[in-house]
Amino acid sequence: MTKKKLGRFELAAMKQKGEKVTWITAYDFWTAQFAEIAGMDMILVGDSLGMCVYGYDGTIPVTMDQCIVHCEAVRRAAPNTFVIGDMPFLSYQVSVEDAVRNAGRFFKEGRVDAIKLEGGKKVCPQVRAIADGGMLVMGHIGLTPQSSGQLGGFKAQGRTADAAIELINDARALQEAGAYALLVEAVPPEVCKIIRDDLSIPVYSIGAGPQADGQLLISSDALGIFQAFTPKFVKKYENLAESIIDAFRKYVEEVRSVEFPKEEHTYKMIEGEQTKLLNFLQAKKAEEPK
Ligand code: KIV
Repeated sequence: MTKKKLGRFELAAMKQKGEKVTWITAYDFWTAQFAEIAGMDMILVGDSLGMCVYGYDGTIPVTMDQCIVHCEAVRRAAPNTFVIGDMPFLSYQVSVEDAVRNAGRFFKEGRVDAIKLEGGKKVCPQVRAIADGGMLVMGHIGLTPQSSGQLGGFKAQGRTADAAIELINDARALQEAGAYALLVEAVPPEVCKIIRDDLSIPVYSIGAGPQADGQLLISSDALGIFQAFTPKFVKKYENLAESIIDAFRKYVEEVRSVEFPKEEHTYKMIEGEQTKLLNFLQAKKAEEPK
């Protein structure tokens, strides 16, 4: 049976009904296809693709063109899943005009259902303009990887009362500016719960506890592919890196020992054609000057 694609209103209604939204990142065709088959509600084409696909040490080098190409692949693979594109560094910070134009590219070229950008009050003019342009825009507060330099690294946020109040105010400002949903990253659960209860829009968590309206994980973390570091909030549902390395090692051994390929991996000549070929080669050789 074809999966039913959820829209923003169905997703928002899930908050009212207390039903959790399931959300994972995907950057390529296969991961997105498997996510859709597994019944995932949403896919984020995160700028974490910088680390998970391209091997950068952060998200800063990621470009608009890279994001769009990955959104296109994910959309082809998951036509019945709500797909969110992640605006990369400097695609929205410089000006409101840039933000609207680049957000528009995600919808026109990447065929996404919504976009996400990082930041609180400071990005509200961009959020308002994108929403006024008729596009769905999600906020992202707490640990915002694009400003990890300012935050002093990939560190949990909102752990003091003052910092928590700042986050609560940012969340309210984003809702007020027209964000249709909010992602809270690496924040204590009690702070995320206050934000979740305070806002009428859905509030999702990555590392912000179970009371949020849904959970996001990075696929490369959940599948045990990303090796550089593992945040505290990650649960590894698989250790694919180990399985992939084992499979590659076995292949290397079998090629070297001529264990692979076997007869079942080869093609047969059409009946009688081998004899014809050998006869032809023999005759050719006989013609050669001695
Ligand atoms: O790019 C991404 O995957 C993200 C998550 C870290 C929330 O923005």
